[in-house]
Amino acid sequence: MSSKRRKPPRRDVRLHEEVTAEEGFVWTRKDLLGLDELSPQEILHILDTAESFKEVSTRSIKKVPALRGKVVGLLFFEDSTRTRMSFELAASRMSADTILFTSKGSSVSKGETTLDTVKNIEAMGVDVFVIRHSQSGAPHLLAKQVGASIINAGDGAHEHPTQALLDIFTIRQRLGRLAGVKVAIVGDIAHSRVARSNILGLRKLGADVTVVGPPTLVPNAITAMGCRVSHSLDDILDEMDVINMLRIQFERFGGGLFPSLREYSKLYGLGAQRLSRCKKDVLIMHPGPINRGVELTSEVADGPNSCILQQVTNGLAIRMAVLYLVSPVRE
Ligand code: CP
Repeated sequence: MSSKRRKPPRRDVRLHEEVTAEEGFVWTRKDLLGLDELSPQEILHILDTAESFKEVSTRSIKKVPALRGKVVGLLFFEDSTRTRMSFELAASRMSADTILFTSKGSSVSKGETTLDTVKNIEAMGVDVFVIRHSQSGAPHLLAKQVGASIINAGDGAHEHPTQALLDIFTIRQRLGRLAGVKVAIVGDIAHSRVARSNILGLRKLGADVTVVGPPTLVPNAITAMGCRVSHSLDDILDEMDVINMLRIQFERFGGGLFPSLREYSKLYGLGAQRLSRCKKDVLIMHPGPINRGVELTSEVADGPNSCILQQVTNGLAIRMAVLYLVSPVRE
């Protein structure tokens, strides 16, 4: 694959239209900041590149030389388990060197700005930065200020593109299609970067998205993104092919948006009884970390309809693909 960069084409997709990959498509972006700016072709190209990298994890020697000599900087200004470890392992499988920054224990406590921190680490010879930050737009700002490629690993309540890509990859893998697939995204839509990126990506590939939650956690303006809104999980259960349950982002609001966790769970939690009213082969997803007993009971989270750990496995292939595509020079 070539690393030549040109302006990518944009094309809007009508609901239920199947998007097929263009032969000879060439990736041209320096950064992956969000699914908002990606065309359907670019999203498909990442998914298809991930398909080819998935095989690497099945080999006895799980390593390819694609990014040998490159340095990946993992910058986590906010906590993470899955995303951070998945990018670290993805970089290692591509033979890149990694350096890890976490804000806890760093010179951030002495007042160093995010930009100064990133410019100083870039001066050590970093080629690609993976950045998680609590401020929406932080990776976008940094992408204009540094020469290295930037991958957004979650910025505030804005976007989490690689999470949505691994979710979409998993749906396509399990159902064999995306166009016309009925996906419910349930819970704290207002504070969820996972919801935003999923809606953007799924709609561009022709899926039918319904967001579900209490009025205080579902902004009215979300319909402008092309999805339906329901405030009743019970009303939509039997139509759905996929139900993606979101974590309540307690760290992004001070409480008071619903009466109690017990009440929330009663109306919007998924347990065995609600599952019995879904399609028999409905896919149950969750980006993690799960609040067990709130969004999902353990019976559902660990049951046969759950593909939560498959999502995590697929995240590795997606992150290998993204690291490969944005790296400035590839072998
Ligand atoms: N899904 C997700 O982003 O998990 P982490 O916060 O553990 O990275």
